[in-house]
Amino acid sequence: MTATGGATAAASGAGSNAAPGVTVRVPAKVNVQLAVGAARPDGFHDLANVFLAVSLYDEVTAAPAAELTVTCEGPDADKVPLDRTNLAARAAELLAARHGISPDVHLHIAKDIPVAGGMAGGSADGAGALLACDALWGLNSSRAELLEICAELGSDVPFSLVGGAALGVGRGEKLTELPVGGTFHWVFAVADGGLSTPVVFGEFDRLTEGVDVPEPAASPALLDALRTGDVAALAGALANDLQPAAVSLRPALNATLEAGTAAGALAALVSGSGPTTAFLVKDAEAADAVAAALIASGTCRTAHVAMSPAPGATVL
Ligand code: C5P
Repeated sequence: MTATGGATAAASGAGSNAAPGVTVRVPAKVNVQLAVGAARPDGFHDLANVFLAVSLYDEVTAAPAAELTVTCEGPDADKVPLDRTNLAARAAELLAARHGISPDVHLHIAKDIPVAGGMAGGSADGAGALLACDALWGLNSSRAELLEICAELGSDVPFSLVGGAALGVGRGEKLTELPVGGTFHWVFAVADGGLSTPVVFGEFDRLTEGVDVPEPAASPALLDALRTGDVAALAGALANDLQPAAVSLRPALNATLEAGTAAGALAALVSGSGPTTAFLVKDAEAADAVAAALIASGTCRTAHVAMSPAPGATVL
């Protein structure tokens, strides 16, 4: 939270004059495995999507207001839509409609997760707004009800609510939580500009035209590495079927991946649909060194260190 964009009439808990509000913290994700099947008739792709939540967070505050409004602060705030296309606004509308109430709420997003970066930043804001509005309006929705609304909002939104680690199948929304036996350290290199998820899936379709795309399946070696907390084994098992598509659309990502590897990362991959790149490292010290080397390389806009797993959406 370094810069401010948009009007920030928002309420958070700080200060005695603050309006009553509920703040929810929501993590970003990296896909440690993203296995993509052929395009389905509905345009979506069946996935075997192993999500891992990382300690890079957005905070969403919901406060009473005369009508639904959204504001945002953070380095990328100017790239966040403040209209009803914002998943946070849609979450408030869907929840209110279910309960026959009006979505009169001010949503303020303090954004640290890269925008359109392949780290589920928009999904995080959807899940965060949902939980914050549910608490503000005293609805006490069950976990199952919240997850149903999340799935309606987008394929990655249920995982933003749940956090930790999970296997997502179907279009990624049907989750099974996964055990994680240790802490993993990461560096995330943020690229200039985002990539549109539908465009990346479209490029995947183009690149796989005429190819017999296998049914997506989770890798037993990868699930084992997560369960045992074995960083070397995880490094060997990371896989993202969207990476060739992201790199085809943004060839400069190759230089970022190489810079992180040269700096000592155990493994490098594109995060989800990109263009953020993710580097798995041995420990916190290595994370600082790789982040500094990536920034010095000039192949990315900035780099963040983070740990996983991180908890899902949490009321502060
Ligand atoms: O579910 P969500 O709205 O996040 O998906 C955004 C877009 O990403 C979809 O419209 C689709 O083009 C693509 N997508 C896909 N297969 C998935 C998830 C997303 O093709 N499993």
